[in-house]
Order: sequence, then C-alpha cells, then structure tokens
Amino acid sequence: MPYSKELGVLRKAGRLRVRKISNDKLIDFASNDYLGLSQEKSLLKKMFDEIKQKTCHAPKSSQLVNGYHPVHQNFEEYLCAINNFESAIVVGSGFMANLALLEALPRKKDLLLLDEEYHASGVLASKLVSAQVKFFKHNDMNDLIEILKTQEYKRAIVGVEGIYSMSGDLVDKKVFEICDRYEAILVVDEAHSVGVVGEKLLGIFDFYNIVPKKNHIKMGTLGKAIGSYGAYILCSSHISEYLLNRAKSLIYTTAPSLLDIELARQGFLFIEKKVDFFKEEIKKRQDLVKNYFDFDMFGLIFPFEISCSDEVMKKQKELENIGFSVGAIRAPTVKKPILRIIPRVSVESKLFEKLCLSITKSKS
Ligand SMILES: Cc1ncc(COP(=O)(O)O)c(C=O)c1O
Repeated sequence: MPYSKELGVLRKAGRLRVRKISNDKLIDFASNDYLGLSQEKSLLKKMFDEIKQKTCHAPKSSQLVNGYHPVHQNFEEYLCAINNFESAIVVGSGFMANLALLEALPRKKDLLLLDEEYHASGVLASKLVSAQVKFFKHNDMNDLIEILKTQEYKRAIVGVEGIYSMSGDLVDKKVFEICDRYEAILVVDEAHSVGVVGEKLLGIFDFYNIVPKKNHIKMGTLGKAIGSYGAYILCSSHISEYLLNRAKSLIYTTAPSLLDIELARQGFLFIEKKVDFFKEEIKKRQDLVKNYFDFDMFGLIFPFEISCSDEVMKKQKELENIGFSVGAIRAPTVKKPILRIIPRVSVESKLFEKLCLSITKSKS
C-alpha cells in the first residue's frame, strides 16, 4: 500500500486520527458551538422563511461572476455596521478566509509574521508566499517588536488569533498599538472570540474597545458560536478591493451558501437579543473553571493538559463512558496533549460542574 509507512509511524506514536460519527446521546463539551445555536430551531425556520422567497436558493457561481447575491450583500452591510468596519466579504469557510488573506496580502519583499500558535490554515498559506515568513513566540510582544525592528521589508503583515483555538489564550492588546506604530497590517482571526467575548459578544475588537483602523483586518467564522457555516473578512474598502482581485480562495470558488449566510445573520440577531443572558452564562462557567482548576478561562476553551497521547485518548474514553464528549487533541496540533473542553452555555452549568468533579477525582 502506498502510504503504509506513514500510517504506521502515526499508529506507533499514538497519533493516528479517525473520524467518529457524532454521538447525540453524549453531553457535548467538545464542539465549538459555544452558545448552543446549532440546536436553535427557531433560527432555522426564520432562515427558511427568508430564503424561500428568493428566486434562487443556491449561489450558482463565484462572487466575481454572478454569484454575489443580495443575501450576501445584506449580511455584509449588517456586519460592517455592528463591527464598525468599512467593508466586508463573505467567504466559504474560515480556512478559505485565512488562505485568502495570508496568501494574497504578503508579496515579494514583504514580511509575513505569524504567532507560532496561528491556525494550520494560516501556516499553510505562509508556505505559498514569496514574501519572507517569520513566526514570533506565542503572544510575545517583545519578540514581535524585535522582528519588526530588525528585519527589512516593504510591508509587514502580522497574524494573530483573538482567542487561540487550543490554549484558549487571549491575544495581547499591545498587538494593536505595535502594528499601528510599525505601520503593519494586522490580521485578527476571531474564530473563537466572536460570540464569546466583548461588551456585545462581537469578539476581541469589542472586548478591547478597539476602533478599527485602515490597517486592521478581522476574520470571523460562522461555524462556531454563530451556529452556521462559512466566514467573513472585515477590512478597509482598499483592502477588500485588493482581495477581490487577488485572493484565489475568494475568486475561484462558488460564493458561500445563501442558506448558511442567512442562518448566520439570524444567529447574530439572536445573540444581540440575548446578549446579557449569554454573558452571564459564560461568566458562570469561567468561574467554575477558576474554582475547580485555578485556571483563567478568557473565552470558553478549557485546555486540560494530559501527560501523553495514549493517556489523553484513554481519558477521553473514560469520560465518554460516563456520558461526556470532550476533545482529545494531540501533536502536531498541540505540543502537549490536551483534553479540549468547551463548557457550552446550552448545557446546564450543573452538568459542567459534574464533569469538573469527574476530572478532579480521576486526577487524585
Ligand atoms: C483559529 C481558527 N481559524 C480558522 C479556522 C477555520 O475555520 P472554518 O472551520 O470555518 O474553516 C478554525 C477552525 O477550526 C480555527 O480554529
């Protein structure tokens, strides 16, 4: 078999991945459905009522041919208004949005600077560019400054995540000021911060009270807290004009699904209505993690470190046997294996407390 050796190596290291059908019977502390919107049937109905009135319900072609639909435009205008950005572009997925941004923005003689924990989609994009690429130490602003100060470049493009997908760390606020000072373009991947942090739960710009500037780019995904599928880029009109002319994963692909985009719009409206309730519930779960594990959970990602790959799989199975689904994340996604636990607000906090107790008991 052509890949027996590669698969054998992974199997031996306890790193072979397999897909499992999601088990509805388990209590979901594994998915990124932070607010439980994926089960909110009222949103599905509202989306359907809107879309069934349209002449077509599928995008049919690229946004650059005739696939850019009023449903897309309407959502983009809404996103610009609530986030205070000049321009928006809907994208098929967060992975495609990172490819669009981080492959198209850095050109020859430019410098692309990514946090070393940046998502795999950004790392992949960085391998496709002719610009100089550097990774700075995770959330280390001194390292970032040092590189910006000492390298030669025409333009610098810096990539960070609002909340890091595995460690749950919050990006350092200084990154905004540093990028402004060095006139760098700043890309903030908000996959895990939108719907989770900020006065209006709009993410890290909202949380830090940042008024978006021309050099700021925000990327948000729709498949996590928003309970749909897809992504969006918010930026200046100048940057969006450039991306629509250069970013291959925007141009050479069918426009995002109208159903998903309208469902996402309904998701945002729902969060807007219930923002105080969600904030309270998020805080409750952050307090529980602090009490049980003395860990500051800034969003809704709780990474619980486990000694080795085999052990993390064993722990995941043990928790599954008592009814809980949690993520088991191994290398190369993370350096040290973790149980990735998401205390989703649609699961009663009492049940999360039960999970905390089970973990602390099995530790002692
Ligand atoms: C930080 C981060 N960025 C981007 C993505 C990709 O988003 P999507 O799942 O919409 O492709 C993910 C998803 O896992 C992510 O965690």
